[in-house]
Amino acid sequence: MKILIATEKPFAPAAVECMRSEIQKGGHEIVLLEKYTDKSELLSAVAAVDALIVRSDKIDAEVFDAAKQLKIVVRAGAGYDNIDLEAATKHGVVVENTPGQNANAVAELVFGLLVFAVRNFYNGKSGTELQGKNIGLLAFGNVGKNVARIAKGFGLEVYAYDAFCPADVIEQAGVHAVANQDELFATCDIVSLHIPATPETRQSINYELVNKMRKGGILINTARKEIIDEAGLLKLLTERSDIKYITDIKPDADKAFAALEGQYFSTPKKMGAQTAEANLNAGVAATRQINAFFADGCKKFQVNK
Ligand code: 3PG
Repeated sequence: MKILIATEKPFAPAAVECMRSEIQKGGHEIVLLEKYTDKSELLSAVAAVDALIVRSDKIDAEVFDAAKQLKIVVRAGAGYDNIDLEAATKHGVVVENTPGQNANAVAELVFGLLVFAVRNFYNGKSGTELQGKNIGLLAFGNVGKNVARIAKGFGLEVYAYDAFCPADVIEQAGVHAVANQDELFATCDIVSLHIPATPETRQSINYELVNKMRKGGILINTARKEIIDEAGLLKLLTERSDIKYITDIKPDADKAFAALEGQYFSTPKKMGAQTAEANLNAGVAATRQINAFFADGCKKFQVNK
């Protein structure tokens, strides 16, 4: 079988070498398309492959139409909002993700960004500490759990709300469960977003919600830009100069946010999962899942059921 790794933002070279060796171990052939700049390159690369590994690359109906032999797509990562599941199912293609494989990398970045934010972006002025503050996790999945673990080391009090995770599971992890997201925002000095982009969550982080935050609140987004109501958040930041927005996903309105001096920071490119370890974990997991799929039909991580 031919397995294409198509990554606009490539894996680290060492990860690619391990993926190559796993693919060959499975008796398959690797095809590599990295740093492509035009969709046409992707469309011609998928034409004759049986499996596809991607990161945040957009895999829409046009790609599925072009991929006549495709049987499986693995998103090496957690969020699969970049893949048109309906089109995949229509073409009889299995879609999988690799949950948890890059969660620690994203969680560590949360704290890299948080220290930077509470120390006023290292501008020389006196900042604050994290110890003793309340951090709220919006969703308690793999990333949220890792953020909770690290937060305790900083002496933060950890709160969480997850529409799909029962309160007792959150409490058992030594985290305060709150009843809803309104309560989370009202209770916490810092809110860290870990929800996926779905029709229900799109633009759900809005003016009213963020306005519930205490004085000096920090909103940190290492999830998806689509979950933010950018116009609402911009309005709020303009009205409340005490609130900061820190993000790993550049908003469409980046320029307008950046004009709010001292209240905003965005990484230039999404960096959460961009570590040697996360690349290796997610990339190798993707290749092993594909090997298992072709060896015995294993579809353990299928998301388009
Ligand atoms: C994920 O959903 O796994 C993360 O957002 C990582 O995305 P990336 O592979 O594009 O860095």
